[in-house]
Amino acid sequence: MIKKAFGVDIGGSGIKGAPVDLSTGALSADRLRIPTPQPSTPDAVADTVTALVESFEIGRGVPVGVTFPAVVQDGVAMTAANVDQSWIGTDVDSLLTERTGHEVFVVNDADAAGIAEMEFGAGRRSRGVVLVITLGTGVGSAMFVDGRLVPNAELGHIPYQGASIERYMAESARERENLDWETWAGRLQEYFSLVEFLFSPTLIIVGGGVSKHHRKFLPLLDLHTPIVPAELRNEAGIVGAAALARRAEEEKAALRQRPRTATGSFPPVPTGGGTPEKKDPSSKKDPSSKKKKKKKGRKEREKAAMKKTAEQARSADMEAAK
Ligand code: BGC
Repeated sequence: MIKKAFGVDIGGSGIKGAPVDLSTGALSADRLRIPTPQPSTPDAVADTVTALVESFEIGRGVPVGVTFPAVVQDGVAMTAANVDQSWIGTDVDSLLTERTGHEVFVVNDADAAGIAEMEFGAGRRSRGVVLVITLGTGVGSAMFVDGRLVPNAELGHIPYQGASIERYMAESARERENLDWETWAGRLQEYFSLVEFLFSPTLIIVGGGVSKHHRKFLPLLDLHTPIVPAELRNEAGIVGAAALARRAEEEKAALRQRPRTATGSFPPVPTGGGTPEKKDPSSKKDPSSKKKKKKKGRKEREKAAMKKTAEQARSADMEAAK
């Protein structure tokens, strides 16, 4: 099992990274933070990530996990709510793998924070539907069902008053509008009541930088669901990204170990109830007609036997009547 991976957390204002000891979920060296270049284009961010990874002497085979604040499918950024629009459609996995020289796996930032909480933090051993909501510039969400991630849940973009609800209740809204804790908690109450109604979660974990002030707003919320602060705080992204990189690297290794056929390709995966086999029309041996013949023969034999028995009985009757 891979014990060490490197985690990078790409945020709107800073890019942070550190090697992670995956047996404990702790950083194995002090993390480094470099301001996010502005504008945060793919090229400029790739340079910063490369500089950050190179400043640590990590072995060549160590996988690197990177968080990104967007929907990420197969390593490609599909949205760009709070980052430069030029990211949309960028294959972030390939870009960063090429630049850093390490195998890079990219994941949505909230999904990474969620993975970290589920493996090492407030969600350990939690089953059912667990929601990890991060409050920052935007609102991120990670959804787990019995420990399995449902990737790219975007619960910060529930429509509200003609915009995404994150404009109204993210930590950035509290700062922008200079809201006191009570007023902001009122907005959080509306949000969490809605999310609770929609998903009936068993646990809600609140992350993001502001979660270190959880005593100022979590006790003001009135919900049926237990709601707790994240435990990993600022490091959740780095730890979750590293954990994901390990998982992805191990899955790849397992695939490589599957036995190959003589042609070098992987043996076909059995498909339950897949395409029915085609019958060869030239084949004269049609098992179904054979069966029919067999059935017909048996019926005739039975009929003949009954006829014979009836005849025997009749002649016996006639004999008796004589
Ligand atoms: C983005 C999410 C991201 C969240 C937190 C939202 O605006 O759409 O993908 O997880 O911000 O950064």
